[in-house]
Amino acid sequence: MSVPPPTPDPIAATLPPTGRIDIHAHLIPGVDDGCQTIEESLACVRLLKQNGYVGTICTPHMAWVDDLPECTPAHVAEWVSQLRRQLKEHGENYAIWPGGELRLFDGVIDWLKQHGVPTLAGSRCVLTDMWETRWPTYAIPAFRWLLDQGYQPILAHPERLNCPEELPARLVEVQAMGVWLQGNANCFTGAEGYHADIFVRQFLAEGRYRLLGLDMHRPDTLPSRFDGLDIAQRESGPKLVNVLTITAPRRDIFGLRG
Ligand SMILES: [Fe+2]
Repeated sequence: MSVPPPTPDPIAATLPPTGRIDIHAHLIPGVDDGCQTIEESLACVRLLKQNGYVGTICTPHMAWVDDLPECTPAHVAEWVSQLRRQLKEHGENYAIWPGGELRLFDGVIDWLKQHGVPTLAGSRCVLTDMWETRWPTYAIPAFRWLLDQGYQPILAHPERLNCPEELPARLVEVQAMGVWLQGNANCFTGAEGYHADIFVRQFLAEGRYRLLGLDMHRPDTLPSRFDGLDIAQRESGPKLVNVLTITAPRRDIFGLRG
């Protein structure tokens, strides 16, 4: 099945056209290793607004069966509704949407059948990640299953995957299948390690990224991620970074013209 085009999102349609939208964030308080309290979430929103962001898709870690059993698409939708109310109560005008950072693992397809597919802001896009020291055998079947169901898989921060020897060829393979790649701003700072530092620049220069995300966790993690965006803009020009953080989310996830 081909992936249907996104339908226009009414909230995104009201946002200033020059504002950045983050598609990868651990903003919901108290659900994973991201923000722990509403005060931390509010502090992050204020920092995001100061740095040119107008909206965030909330993507808590999902399908960590033993560690985060409550983190399901249905619960994330509830938590985002609650956080929207709290932002409003605190006078923060900031758009948020539900999503998830789906951990690929041996068994992820059964998990998806049981809990549903965590799409980004009601689109067909699904943010995925994996944490192995070798490229795992379950990755291609999971991407294939999502594509066959009409979903658009996005692999988060591929530059951080801990299998540097085989990584470039594996990414060529999954991109040929139709998987999109999302780079992490923090990797431009060197804070995510040597290979991520090299690969993020290589993949950006090769035009491999469809989107660039912050992957913010708690307020103290944000300044480094904004530094990463600044570095990327200095090295590759603001136009490319703007496409990946402003145009692409509107076009690819929210069905709006960039
Ligand atoms: Fe993340």
